[in-house]
Amino acid sequence: MAPLQVVSVFVASFIFMQTLGNSQTCPDCFTRSRAAHYPNSEEKGTETGSCGFGTFGATINGGDVSAASELYRNGLGCGACYQVRCTDSNYCSDKGVTVVVTDQGAGDRTDFILSQRAFARMAQTTDAAASILPLGVVDIEYRRVSCTYPDKNITIKIEESSDNPHYLAFVIWYQQGKKDITAVQLCETQNFVCKLLDRTRGAVWTTTSPPRGPLQIRMLLSVDDEDETWVDPVNNIPENWKAGDTYDSGIQADA
Ligand SMILES: *[C@@H]1O[C@H](CO)[C@@H](O)[C@H](O)[C@H]1NC(C)=O
Repeated sequence: MAPLQVVSVFVASFIFMQTLGNSQTCPDCFTRSRAAHYPNSEEKGTETGSCGFGTFGATINGGDVSAASELYRNGLGCGACYQVRCTDSNYCSDKGVTVVVTDQGAGDRTDFILSQRAFARMAQTTDAAASILPLGVVDIEYRRVSCTYPDKNITIKIEESSDNPHYLAFVIWYQQGKKDITAVQLCETQNFVCKLLDRTRGAVWTTTSPPRGPLQIRMLLSVDDEDETWVDPVNNIPENWKAGDTYDSGIQADA
């Protein structure tokens, strides 16, 4: 090889390794993308988001919520928190906004469709917000961050479609931290027989013929499919659980 070729091969592989290195060893780095906003939700997101969170999906985090496209990850991404900041320094704050994923959706090459409230909160001032909102889509950068819900424990919300004792469907609210709930076990508390549940859509876990008696819902929390930990709630779901009710697990995940 001519010396010049050697140099360019070396430079090319160096750049390649750096790119790899960034994605693998830099979990706190920002990724560049674009974000849009919902057309008609000034103060909150949607109660009918794909995650199945219901009102939680619209109003949690003060309404700073978002639909995600690839980051939705077939429902696994539901409840994950992201710091999102727009990049035009004339209008945008450094801090941006922290949003919770509660829905699935994609715009024109976007990773996020934010509630209008969250979109406006990326701006430095109210005037700046009035300037960026009409743009509809802006350049952003984002990174995953811990969710924080002061004074909340992980809470089980029984879906309206549930029918004791034939069918149980629920979502998990207020999980702090940066981990994904990759599996859920439903355990019968007398003989401690457990069964793995299916996530049938979004963040909704379901089972037909749930066991009788008080129930324990165990959660497998994991980071990038590694570092897995089963978490056992302190409180059980009572035998007479009802559709629409919420139950405090008595525990919270580490931030
Ligand atoms: C969370 O659970 C603990 C019991 O493990 C309880 O003492 C506490 O009051 C609960 N917190 C809230 C905000 O409900």
